[in-house]
Amino acid sequence: MTDATAAELPRLVIEGLHKRFGAVAATAGVDLEVRPRELHALIGPNGAGKTTLISQIAGEIFPDQGRILIDGRDVTRMAAYARAGQGLARSFQITQLFTDFTALDNVAMAIQARQGGNWRCFGSARQDRSLREPAMAHLTAVGLGHRADEVVADLAHGECRQLELAVALAAEASLLLLDEPMAGLGPEESRQMTRILQGLKGRYAILLVEHDMDAVFALADRVTVLVYGRTLFTGTPDEVRAHPEVRAAYLGDGV
Ligand SMILES: Nc1ncnc2c1ncn2[C@@H]1O[C@H](COP(=O)(O)OP(=O)(O)OP(=O)(O)O)[C@@H](O)[C@H]1O
Ligand SMILES: [Mg+2]
Repeated sequence: MTDATAAELPRLVIEGLHKRFGAVAATAGVDLEVRPRELHALIGPNGAGKTTLISQIAGEIFPDQGRILIDGRDVTRMAAYARAGQGLARSFQITQLFTDFTALDNVAMAIQARQGGNWRCFGSARQDRSLREPAMAHLTAVGLGHRADEVVADLAHGECRQLELAVALAAEASLLLLDEPMAGLGPEESRQMTRILQGLKGRYAILLVEHDMDAVFALADRVTVLVYGRTLFTGTPDEVRAHPEVRAAYLGDGV
């Protein structure tokens, strides 16, 4: 494959994906593509299957049918840790951080884990400039540089969401799966997170699950609408806003 061909390849391709939990068809035919450096939003009502889809892309659960390709490579049956090696990182709908450690420590640990280090040796690594300097750069990128030495337990909820993003960046990921980074944030915190994501946009390929439509329409290059586990529509924010079925299924008349 030439470099030119590789450059045009979508970062992520989902083809005909299906996943059942007993009687529930959580994923019932999803097709989706995330292009290089695209910020692609995934929206849909509660229970539409957004988190289930993210978990399948990350390799935490396996689909019953269909394919997942990262950079043209079929990863459908690949373990989660191996997908991380393909440049993939996810953040969770519910924050997962080490609460007794500082913000900087959390990012440094993610860098160390990426380098194959052992967390039990972290005490000495804390002083390691080769971890501290890149960790500080990731914290600054998410607007948390001034809170580097705060223990996570003392951070505000919005700051935890920012920190979680820094942890994902520390994995040296180039394809980010973000599951509701604005969940539980107040209006000002949400605007702050939107600004942060705006800063990351164009540098990473991002699949963003979000219910905050102001953020989605401000940030997304394209939007995929998921309803009952199926792709209903993919288009630009303007196309999505104008789409009658999308309005009926999700947006309501106020948008
Ligand atoms: N592990 C599981 N076992 C059984 N059912 C599940 C499981 N995980 C998800 N489901 C079901 O699959 C459907 C899709 O859930 P999912 O969490 O993916 O939705 P979602 O779009 O992320 O919703 P929300 O916007 O509320 O986060 C729901 O009906 C849910 O109850
Ligand atoms: Mg969800």
